[in-house]
Amino acid sequence: MAVAIIGSGKGSNAQAIFDAIAAGRLNARVVCVLSDVEDAFILERARRQGVPAEFMSAAPFKTKLEGEAEQCYIATLRRYGTEVIALAGFMRIVKKGLLAAFPDRILNIHPALLPAFPGMESWKQALDYGAKVAGCTVHFVDGGTDTGPIILQKPVPVLEGDTPATLHARIQEQEHVAFPEALQLLAEHRVRVEGRVVHIAP
Ligand code: GRF
Repeated sequence: MAVAIIGSGKGSNAQAIFDAIAAGRLNARVVCVLSDVEDAFILERARRQGVPAEFMSAAPFKTKLEGEAEQCYIATLRRYGTEVIALAGFMRIVKKGLLAAFPDRILNIHPALLPAFPGMESWKQALDYGAKVAGCTVHFVDGGTDTGPIILQKPVPVLEGDTPATLHARIQEQEHVAFPEALQLLAEHRVRVEGRVVHIAP
C-alpha cells in the first residue's frame, strides 16, 4: 500500500509510521512526505528515511488547502503513486478537490475521543472540561473539521495533576500505536465504510 504523509509539524506520527513499517507491523511503503511548512521537522525525518520530502506552499490561504495549491498537491500525490493519504499533524482543512481525488482514502489522527473536543488543542479542551478519559481517534476525512467516519480510537486516563503537556504526551504515545494500526487495517482490506460507520472485518 502506497502511503503519502502530509504534516505541518514535528512529525512524531510520521516517525511512528516509519518505525512500524521497519518493524514489520505495517505492510506499506511511504512514497512521499509533503509539508506546507518549509522548516517542519517532519520533512527532515522523511529525508533521514530516504523518503522523498517536499515543501509545498499552500498560500495564499492560511487555514485550508484549496485552489491552485490544492491542485499542485493532487498532482504531486498522483505522481508518487499515492493510494492512501495519512494526515499527520496537517494544520489545514482539506477541501473538496483533494477529497474527491482520494475518496475514502484520506486518514487523519486527532488527539481526542471524537466527537468530543474537535478542533485545536483538544487535550487542553479535555483537561479544562474536566474529562476523566481522553485519547485519540483515527478517522476518514470528510468535508468537516474532525467529523469523518471513525476507524479506531485509543483511550488514555486523565490523571490528577496533569498539565496540558503531560496529557498531550500520554495521548501521543497512543497516537503512535493507533495510526500504524489503522493503516494496517486498510492494507489488509478489512475496512468498509457504510454511511458514517466504519466496519472492520475480523
Ligand atoms: C498530533 O497530536 C495529532 O493528533 C494532531 O497533530 C499532532 C501532530 O503531531 N493532528 P506530530 O507532528 O505527528 O508529532
